[in-house]
Amino acid sequence: MIHNGHNGTDIAAPSVAVVYHSGFGHTTTLAEAVAAGARDGGAKVTVLPVATMTDDDWDTLDGADAMIFGTATYMGNVSAGFQAFAEKTGRRCMTGSWRDKVAAGFTNSGAKSGDKLATLNSLAIFAAQHHMHWVNLGLGPGWNSSAGSEHDLNRLGFWLGAAAATDVDADPDQVHPADVQTCRHLGQRVALVTRQLNIGRTLSPAASTPAAS
Ligand SMILES: Cc1cc2nc3c(=O)[nH]c(=O)nc-3n(C[C@H](O)[C@H](O)[C@H](O)COP(=O)(O)O)c2cc1C
Repeated sequence: MIHNGHNGTDIAAPSVAVVYHSGFGHTTTLAEAVAAGARDGGAKVTVLPVATMTDDDWDTLDGADAMIFGTATYMGNVSAGFQAFAEKTGRRCMTGSWRDKVAAGFTNSGAKSGDKLATLNSLAIFAAQHHMHWVNLGLGPGWNSSAGSEHDLNRLGFWLGAAAATDVDADPDQVHPADVQTCRHLGQRVALVTRQLNIGRTLSPAASTPAAS
């Protein structure tokens, strides 16, 4: 067995952290689906709600090979809760301690569009500021032809990450099954991409050090 992950674990079983904010539980349902998908992909998964991060949780995050960021869309962007978490990573951003880790994102809102693309853009920019490698959804758009339906994977037609629409009066267990499956797909994809990257790094180290100034 090769032990060469960021945290010394088996590279064939990358460590994936699902770190997310949910005000009312709907995005929690999706975070659990992302986590299940990452487990399907062979990853060791930790689910971290940003509202209750402990020192141990920050250590887990720092040791992860991949982070999948999730947030409800509030006011057309990431929630204040998620942004508060993001701003707590400023020192890590300055030191580059998350550099070359894998990242991806998912969001959820009430409206079918709901300006969720702005949220995914913010998550991707957050990852880029940390010099992380962003993984897209890897699915074509569903529900976009006469043969399609709301039960298609990626029914809302996003490319940058996974997006869900949940009726504002729905309970968390009423999140649309197609959105749950789309999030599950994202988790699995991130696990598999991270595994490929970890194995590749044993053959060809990443050019991860900035050029000396
Ligand atoms: C303060 C606030 C702002 C919201 N802004 C949006 C929005 O911009 N677009 C949208 O479609 N839904 C919006 N919603 C609806 C939520 O995105 C939706 O209810 C979502 O399922 C909440 O997820 P959560 O339970 O994980 O917090 C907003 C809800 C709240 C409370």
